[in-house]
Order: sequence, then C-alpha cells, then structure tokens
Amino acid sequence: MSNSSLQPVTTSDLRTTGEVGWISPSNIALIKYWGKKSVQKPMNASISFTLAEATTKTSLSFKPRKNGERWIDFYFEEQKQARFEERIVQYFSSLSEEMPFLGDYSYVIKSSNTFPHSAGIASSASAMSALALCLCDIENVISEEIRQEGDFLKRASFIARLGSGSAARSLFPSMSVWGKSEHVAYSSDEYAIAYSNIHESFLSFHDDVLIVSDEKKSVSSSAGHQLMNGNPFAPVRYAQAKKNMGLLLSSLQSGDLDLFGKIVEEEALTLHALMMCSDPGYILMKPNTLSILEKIRSFRQNTSLPVFFTLDAGPNVHVLYPDSERDKIETFIKSELLSLSQSNQIIKDHVGSGPEKFI
Ligand code: DP6
Repeated sequence: MSNSSLQPVTTSDLRTTGEVGWISPSNIALIKYWGKKSVQKPMNASISFTLAEATTKTSLSFKPRKNGERWIDFYFEEQKQARFEERIVQYFSSLSEEMPFLGDYSYVIKSSNTFPHSAGIASSASAMSALALCLCDIENVISEEIRQEGDFLKRASFIARLGSGSAARSLFPSMSVWGKSEHVAYSSDEYAIAYSNIHESFLSFHDDVLIVSDEKKSVSSSAGHQLMNGNPFAPVRYAQAKKNMGLLLSSLQSGDLDLFGKIVEEEALTLHALMMCSDPGYILMKPNTLSILEKIRSFRQNTSLPVFFTLDAGPNVHVLYPDSERDKIETFIKSELLSLSQSNQIIKDHVGSGPEKFI
C-alpha cells in the first residue's frame, strides 16, 4: 500500500446524490494510548481487541449543497442532537483540506448505538469510525478512482484518527495496532493496521464490561491526554509502553496467558496512576471498581483460571477471559461481581470481525 492512499482524491461529479451506511464496533485497548502530540498522533503505540457487540450504526445521505442550506443535520437514536451535531460540524470543518469536497454537499446523518448511551462506556471509537467509513465511502462514490479494500481501510483509519485517536483502531478484525512500533512492521502514527500474528485462543476472547457508574466523567479523555504534557512521569510511561508492547506481542503469539494478564493489568493500573499523579490529579475509579479488581485477582489466585481486568478512562471494569473457560468465569462474574455494578448492568462482548457496510 502506498502513502498516496492517504492523499485527497480528485472529485468531479457535483450532481451526485446518495446514501452510505456502516456499522462499526468499539475496541478495548490492551496497551493504552495516553498522551498525544499534534495532530492527534500518539506518544506511544497501542494495541486493542476489536469488539463485536458494542457498535454504532450510522447512515449518511448527501446531496449537492444549495446556497443558504443547512450543512449537517444529525439525529442520534431518532432525536435531533445539537451537541453531537456541533462536534460533527467541527470534525467536518477540520477535514476541509483532507476532503475538499465536504463543503460542496449537505448531509443528513442518522446514528444509533447497540449499547445504552448512558452506560458511560466510551462511544467515540465506534461513532467516529462509523462516520469516517461513511465519509471514505462517499469519497469513493464521487471520486474518479475507487480505493480497493486495503487502501480504503487505511484511509478510513486515518480519517477516523483525526476525529478520535482510539477510533483509528476500530476498523480491523480481531486486533489492531496504532502508532509506530519497532515490533510491528508497517505500523504508523497516521493510521492503525490489522494485527493478526496471534494465538487462536485470543480470537474468541470475551470482554464483559461491568458498568460501575454511568455518571458523566469529571475529566474527559481529551483533557486527560493534555494533562500528560506536564506529567513528570510521562517519559517513564512512554518507555514502559514501548517495553510492554514487545512483551504483550510475544504473549499474543505464544498464547502465554500469564504474561498477557500481567501486562494488560499493569497497563490499566498505570493509566489510572497517571491520572492520579497529573496536575491537577484526579480519580475516575470508584470504590466498587477497586472491589472488582481485588475480587478478580483473588479468584484467579484461588482457582488459577485465566481471568483478567482492564479499564478505560472511567470506572467500569472490562473482564477479559478465553472462551475455553467461559462457564466457570461467567458463574464467578454472576455470583461475585455483578452486584458491584450499578443496577447489575453488564455488557457482554467478545472479539469481533470489524465493521460492516449496510448501505
Ligand atoms: C484510555 O481516543 O478517547 O481509552 O483521541 O482525544 O479522542 P481522543 O481520545 P480517546 O482516548 C482513549 C484513551 C483510552 C486508551 C485507548 O483507547 O487506547
């Protein structure tokens, strides 16, 4: 794949109207992206599982824009959503050089999530990747050259990254790496790539998300990334992430679950430690988050079963385990962890196969 696949395309036919639609999943990072440089490039490489059940479905219809006509109309779950619409207007405006045709059309965008919007789980990865796929699809429709699948996904990942960094990783089956890493050939800060050099046990891994709190976070991820700029531990963190990437990749290849769990949990705890020691420091975990982490560790110690946790930038706990131990671990989650989540909320997910085009 050449880097010309990232370049804007020449467009011609302004009479074109049409509709495109994509379903795109969320993803959960194992090596975390935390800290960025301009423009939305990561300070370290990250790797994630692509999820299957937590998805955003977005359709986008477009027609040539007439003078004075509204540029973008956005509906979330059938309702007009002014706040999201504003974010999309900003996103489209920021893409004016990348996608010069954007200003020539007007758009009606309709979006919905499979997971409850209020569950407090990050939706920007699925939302921004679904939108980026729609934009790249329009680009294909109106451009003089059609990008083939590999180049199309690379371009969509690049466009998604400009909306939300972690969204760049939602486009590929099973696992994805974003950020230049000495361990991963063809990896790049500009876009994510598929990562497939993994033991088969990881292809059917589960990720059950215990919703500990669905309150709005006190500090957004964007603000959290900014705070890494003044964090005295930042250089040590970026060195740790580099080392952890090498170790995690070797565990993914060999199927060494102990090493996998050690690195994944260290990454989750480091992410929250970095929040606590930034200036100002803040805490996104809740008391029940810690109780769940302790219970997972003691259950693992007592049973030797491979069950691990990770966290994103919030209080909810992602419980990771291989399908081979599903029955025993589901019983444990139900009997010991579920009551620690808010109103027994759990989102059961697993490693998935990536986005799907539906229009
Ligand atoms: C903790 O991708 O939400 O989930 O690029 O500012 O949109 P922006 O941030 P975002 O950050 C995600 C942070 C994380 C770790 C990860 O997904 O790698």
